[in-house]
Amino acid sequence: MDKICVTGGVALAGRVETSGAKNAALPAMVASLLTDETIELENVPPVRDILTTRRLLSEMGVQAEVREDGSATLNAAEAGGHEAPYELVKTMRASILVLGPLMARFGNARVSLPGGCAIGARPVNLHLMGLQKMGATCEIVHGYIQASSAGLRGAHILFDTVTVTGTENLMMAATMAKGETVLDNAACEPEVSDLAELLRRMGALIEGDGTRTIRIQGVPRLHSCRHRIIPDRIEAGTFAVAAAITHGDVLISNCAPEHMTALLLQLVSVGAEVDLRTGCVRVRGKDPIVSRDITTQPYPGFATDMQAQYMALMTQGDGTSVITETIFENRFMHALEMVRMGADIKIEGRRAIVRGGKPLSGANVLASDLRASASLILAGLVAHGDTVIDRVYHLDRGYHRIEDKLAALGAKIERIR
Ligand code: EPU
Repeated sequence: MDKICVTGGVALAGRVETSGAKNAALPAMVASLLTDETIELENVPPVRDILTTRRLLSEMGVQAEVREDGSATLNAAEAGGHEAPYELVKTMRASILVLGPLMARFGNARVSLPGGCAIGARPVNLHLMGLQKMGATCEIVHGYIQASSAGLRGAHILFDTVTVTGTENLMMAATMAKGETVLDNAACEPEVSDLAELLRRMGALIEGDGTRTIRIQGVPRLHSCRHRIIPDRIEAGTFAVAAAITHGDVLISNCAPEHMTALLLQLVSVGAEVDLRTGCVRVRGKDPIVSRDITTQPYPGFATDMQAQYMALMTQGDGTSVITETIFENRFMHALEMVRMGADIKIEGRRAIVRGGKPLSGANVLASDLRASASLILAGLVAHGDTVIDRVYHLDRGYHRIEDKLAALGAKIERIR
């Protein structure tokens, strides 16, 4: 299994390009199930989760190609299988996203229940509640969701918790339902709006995405289109924190600073200099790094997917900060690894109390999930000596060649095969 070795101590400098957003590309690929015509995508990051999605769709009979240059072609004219098997769902929970499109186009689906994961229980009850409101029957049989309907109909669906993939799933399900569907307390994440934009290009009638109320008028069929995936705000954010933590000077290009407002404001408040330009942002780290609290929130609040990286930054802060995680109940596994590197972090339920200013020292650490892996690289960038990060397959799920990108900024980082 691959490992990543980082030797700390270099202030990063230069320009780095952001890839397309994994969490926008996943639903976009799956949306190809909604039509028998071809969907062409650009800016798809060729990361592991995308390749897993390609495999999942291929097993359903979709002609799916994802190229190294970020282009993808998908055609579901021959899609016959309506099953997402446990073997794939257990490696990628986002497989649940096939449920909505399969129900919309074929009226039946069999999808393995994802189960818990390293960051929390992550139930899918809201996905099922929404489909049931639209007239589907959903049963759990042998660990699988078995859903069927004689034709979905529009419904008013109120989410009691904001759910990103739940909103995406039901938005796709509603595109061809009879009548109007209203999604209330919907997720406003840019990835949801990107999916809405793709679906509109396919002929769907959707308005209100980017707000808490999304309205979808069902249409009889959807058609081919071409769509460019938005830049990955979490990857760009990870580079922004890398600049701040190393006191570096990094220009992050091909990104969407307007999707990163909460993080960029936070970086300014901890003392970094942030210059915005169209499609890029320059971050200059300054001394001292001021310790500031954050609480994760649904968009446009501070993203849970940036919490681990921000924690790495706060280990270098000039005082004490409190990081409160409100989205997932168990997303502090990286803290324990950072403690092994010398950080002073105490976990109290959903709060992590980080006492900054402790020098980190390189150690062998274990990545527990995707963003935890990124945070350990960031900690490694400022630690004395070598940090060796194990279980790098988590990292490969969502970051495209992060070690090459950081090395191009001067980081001493390499993959050990
Ligand atoms: N929830 C429920 N019931 C549901 C669905 C969600 O209680 O039916 C709860 C979850 O347990 C959680 C909260 O709602 O406490 C929010 O979960 P959400 O459904 O929004 O998460 P997700 O859609 O499974 C996506 C991203 C995650 C990101 C979260 C939150 C994708 C493929 N995944 O997950 O990304 O952390 O939204 O923003 O879009 C990552 O990229 O590393 C990652 C984990």
